[in-house]
Amino acid sequence: MIMGEPSINFWMTLLVLSLLIVSFHSRSRIEAVPTYSDHSCPNTSTFTINTPYQSNLNHLLAYLSSNATRDIEFYNATASATTTGSVDDTVYGLYLCRGDMSPDVCRACVAGATKDLIVRCPVEKVAVGWYEECMLRYSNRYIFSSMASDPSDYNWGLLNVSEPDRFDQLVQATMNDLATKLSNVNTGAKKFGTKEATFTAFETLYTLAQCTPDLSGADCYRCLKIAIASLPSCCSGKQLGLVQSPSCNVKYAVSPFYQIPNEQLDPESPITPKGKGQISLQTIVVVVASISVSAMLFVTGYCYLRRKQKKKYNVNQEENVESLQFDFATIEAATDKFSDDNRLGEGGFGVVYKGILSNGQEIAVKRLSQSSRQGSKEFKNEVVMVAKLQHRNLVRLLGFCLEKEEKILVYEFVPNKSLDYFLCDPKRREQLGWSTRYKIIKGIARGILYLHEDSRLKVIHRDLKASNILLDQDMNPKISDFGMAKIFGVNQTQGNTNRIVGTFGYMSPEYAMFGQFSLKSDVYSLGVLILEIISGQKNSSFCQENSTEDLLSYAWKHWRDETPLELLDPTLGDSYARDEVIRSLHIGLHCVQDNPADRPTMATVVLTLNSDFVTLPLPQRPAYFFRSRTEDNKRSNELESNQSTSKSISYSANEASITELYPR
Ligand SMILES: *[C@@H]1O[C@H](CO)[C@@H](O)[C@H](O)[C@H]1NC(C)=O
Ligand SMILES: *[C@@H]1O[C@H](CO)[C@@H](O)[C@H](O)[C@H]1NC(C)=O
Ligand SMILES: *[C@@H]1O[C@H](CO)[C@@H](O)[C@H](O)[C@H]1NC(C)=O
Ligand SMILES: *[C@@H]1O[C@H](CO)[C@@H](O)[C@H](O)[C@H]1NC(C)=O
Repeated sequence: MIMGEPSINFWMTLLVLSLLIVSFHSRSRIEAVPTYSDHSCPNTSTFTINTPYQSNLNHLLAYLSSNATRDIEFYNATASATTTGSVDDTVYGLYLCRGDMSPDVCRACVAGATKDLIVRCPVEKVAVGWYEECMLRYSNRYIFSSMASDPSDYNWGLLNVSEPDRFDQLVQATMNDLATKLSNVNTGAKKFGTKEATFTAFETLYTLAQCTPDLSGADCYRCLKIAIASLPSCCSGKQLGLVQSPSCNVKYAVSPFYQIPNEQLDPESPITPKGKGQISLQTIVVVVASISVSAMLFVTGYCYLRRKQKKKYNVNQEENVESLQFDFATIEAATDKFSDDNRLGEGGFGVVYKGILSNGQEIAVKRLSQSSRQGSKEFKNEVVMVAKLQHRNLVRLLGFCLEKEEKILVYEFVPNKSLDYFLCDPKRREQLGWSTRYKIIKGIARGILYLHEDSRLKVIHRDLKASNILLDQDMNPKISDFGMAKIFGVNQTQGNTNRIVGTFGYMSPEYAMFGQFSLKSDVYSLGVLILEIISGQKNSSFCQENSTEDLLSYAWKHWRDETPLELLDPTLGDSYARDEVIRSLHIGLHCVQDNPADRPTMATVVLTLNSDFVTLPLPQRPAYFFRSRTEDNKRSNELESNQSTSKSISYSANEASITELYPR
C-alpha cells in the first residue's frame, strides 16, 4: 500500500462512519408514517394492466416520491409517455404534506402513500388517499389550480364535549377565522394555518386548516367554507372532527395534534436534513468528499472536545447543580411542612407530597427515606443526569434539596393520577375511551424509546407498570420513576443484595428468574401494559369468572383463535378502532415473547404503532410463569395509584450499579 495517500478503505470507513452519524441522527425521527386515514377511487374509470396509463402512473408516483426529498410540502407533476403517448394516457398527480410536518416526515409519508394507494386502488384511474401527514392524489384529468371539494371524507372522535352547542359555535367561529386568514394568501403560496381557542378553563380547542397552494385565496376560502359547513353534520359535539377533500382539509380536537408554532424545546421536534435533488456522478463525488472531510473534522473535533470536556466538566456540573437546588425552607413552605393533607402516597423510596411554590407552580415532592446512604456528591451528580432526561412522555425532574440529612426530589406535578387508578376501577375505566388508550400506548412507547435510544444516557427503566404511568390533564402518559436506582443509591444496609427490582407480573421471565435485565426487559413490561390497557385488566390480579388464567395466555388464546376483539375491555362497547386494537394486541404479544431476542426493539414498537406498513412476524405463545395466588394478591394490593408509589421496588447492590445508566 502506498503510504501518504489515504487508501480506499480509509475513505470507505469515513463514508460509513459519516453515514452512520447521519442515520443515527435521523433514525429516531423517521416516525412511522404514513398514518392511513381514508381514500377514494371510484371504479367508474379503470385502466388495464401493462398499458401506457399504468406505466405513466408508475412514473408519476416515482417522480412524486423522489421529489418529496426536496423540502417542499406540495408538488405537482404530469406524466405522459413520450413515444406512444396519446393524450388519454397522461396522468396528473400531486401530493400535499400537512403544513407542520418536517421534510423527513413529509418524505416518508409520500413514499409510503405512493405504495399504499396503488394497492388500495389497483386499477382505478382517479384516486385520492388521505393520510395523517400527507395527501396523495392522481387523475387522468388536469387537476391543478382548480378547486375540488368532492369527494370528501369525514371522521370524528367518539367522545362528546360537555356543552355541544357552545362548542360547535366555537368550532365554526375559530375555523371561519382561519379560512378568512387563508383567503388572503396568494396563489402558489403555502396555505396552512392553525388556531387555538379557549373552550373552558380546562379545555382548549385546537383547529387546523389547509389548502393546496396551487389554489387562489378565493378558491381556498370556498373549499374551506364547504368543509366547515359540513362539520356540524358529521362531528357535532365531538371532541374531534375532520373533513378532507382533494383541495383542502379542516380538523379540530380538544388536545393538541399539530406542532404549535414557536413551541420550543420539544424533544421530538424534528430536525431537518436537507433533501437531495437529482444525483449526478459529480454530485456523488462532491458529497462523498465533503462528507469525508466533515467526518474527519468531526472525529478530530470530537477527540479534541473530549479532552477539553474532561477539564470543563466539573465547572459545568457545578453550575447545573446550583440551578437545580431547592432549599429546604422553600420545600417546607410549598408542602405546608409536609402536611398529611398534601400527602400523595408512599413508595419504597419515601413519601410523596404535593406542593405549590410561591410562584404558583405545582410540584410533587419525593422525600427520600433515610436509609439512602449515597454520598451527597454522587447524589447531586445523578440528579443532574436524570434532570437532563426531558421528554413529553416523562415526568420531569425539576430539582432536589439536600439539607439537614434530608434528600428530596422535586418533580413536575402531574394532575390526573396514574394509569392503574383508572384501569383498576370499573367506573373510572369508562373514562378511558379507545382513542385515549391508544394515545397512552403510543406515548409510553415513545417515552421508553427516548430512554433507550434518544437520550444522552441509555436508561433501562426496569419497573414499568401501570402505577408508574402518570396522566396529565389531557390524559397524555408520563412515565415516572426512571433513573431511580442511581439517584437513590444502593441500599446496602439491609442485606437484600439478591432482590430484584421490578414488580411481579411485569417482569420478563429471564429477569424474574435469573435477574438478567436489558432493554428487552422493558419491552416485555410494555407488552404487559399494552395487554392491560386493551383488556382493562391488570395482569397481576387478572381474574375472569370461573377462570384463573393469566392475562398473557388469555390474550394469546384469543389471538390464536382469531377472536382478538373479545379481549377488549367490555366498557368500550363498540367504540374502538378495530385496526388499532388488533395492531396493539399483535405488538403486545410480540413484546412478551419468551426469548428476549424475539421481542421487538422499542424503535420497532413505535414504528409499528404508527404505521399500517410495518409487519411484525406472528407472535409465538408468550411466556408466563407460575406464581402463588398469595403473592399475586400481595402485589396487587401494593399497586397504588399515586404519584410515584414504588413499594415493590428494591435494589440489589450488583444490579443497580451495573447498567441502569451509562453514558453514551
Ligand atoms: C363498482 O362499484 C360498485 C359499488 O360501488 C359495484 O357494485 C360494482 O360492481 C363495481 N364495478 C366494478 C367493475 O368493479
Ligand atoms: C423532480 O422534479 C424535477 C422537475 O421539477 C425533475 O427534473 C426530477 O427528475 C424529479 N426527480 C428528482 C429526483 O429530482
Ligand atoms: C403544476 O401545476 C401548475 C398549475 O398550478 C401547472 O402550471 C404546472 O404545469 C404543473 N406542473 C407539472 C409538472 O405538471
Ligand atoms: C355522545 O352523544 C351521543 C348523542 O348525544 C350519544 O348517542 C353517545 O352515546 C355519546 N357518546 C359518548 C361516548 O358518551
